[in-house]
Amino acid sequence: MSETATAMQGLVVGAGGGIGSAMAQRWSQDPRFDAVWAVSRSADVDPGSQSSLRPLSTDQSEKSIAELAGMIVQESPRLSRIVIALGTLHGPSYGPEKSLDALQLASMQEAYRVNCILPMLWLSALAPGLRKNPDCRIAVLSARVGSIGDNRLGGWYSYRSAKAALNMGLRSASIELARRAKGVKLIAFHPGTVDTALSEPFQRGVPEGKLFAPDFVAGQLDRILDTHGVDGELSYLDWAGETITW
Ligand SMILES: NC(=O)c1ccc[n+]([C@@H]2O[C@H](COP(=O)([O-])OP(=O)(O)OC[C@H]3O[C@@H](n4cnc5c(N)ncnc54)[C@H](OP(=O)(O)O)[C@@H]3O)[C@@H](O)[C@H]2O)c1
Repeated sequence: MSETATAMQGLVVGAGGGIGSAMAQRWSQDPRFDAVWAVSRSADVDPGSQSSLRPLSTDQSEKSIAELAGMIVQESPRLSRIVIALGTLHGPSYGPEKSLDALQLASMQEAYRVNCILPMLWLSALAPGLRKNPDCRIAVLSARVGSIGDNRLGGWYSYRSAKAALNMGLRSASIELARRAKGVKLIAFHPGTVDTALSEPFQRGVPEGKLFAPDFVAGQLDRILDTHGVDGELSYLDWAGETITW
């Protein structure tokens, strides 16, 4: 960073996950950043020797989201990068459904809560603090399987539909923010298949060279955020920067 350049501040929500932690580590080693907020349910996001990394613990309740978001935008009023990397595909009692008869209320609710509702609550809580921000680029981790036009295989009902609902929420947010927070850019991001806990049970059929390391994807997303300036639009992009059909 040149001495005259303004220092950047970043926020990662879901900093305990595979992609979120790679993003937080990358920014905290980037001299352009003087603060990287790393929000996770676990308090043990390792700050290492990087003094810019600021770990914060949350239970992802509405109260905690509102408190943390308010504190972060107050401390970093010119937040320049936000990555929301929350998501779930499987848990101890649920997994992606192959057929309609596998649908269950509890697992559908959990998929919607983590993949759609929590990211939208974070955006809602951060938005008032972004109104005067001149340049804040936000990527929310979506997935290609949330594309309605791209769905030729079916299945994965809860995860697919939660990501499609997320995409629609982000679309409405981009329209509202173009009026009320003109310095914000929004991206719905598909990282490819990434070697994390989320994809672990489903990696067997992934072609050679197509299972990405979290560090690689964090680098791709970093470059995409650097090159996509504020335009009042929601972009739906994959790891290579290619546009995905809605
Ligand atoms: N890995 C892939 O192949 C792939 C492909 C397409 C899209 N994506 C998307 O990329 C994003 C990041 O996923 P990842 O691969 O990094 O997965 P991951 O390692 O499992 O991380 C997901 C993170 O989401 C948060 N989370 C998960 N369950 C939660 C719950 N019940 N309540 C609250 N928070 C919860 C956690 O954040 P904390 O630990 O910080 O609390 C968790 O670490 C997700 O949106 C996922 O859908 C991933």
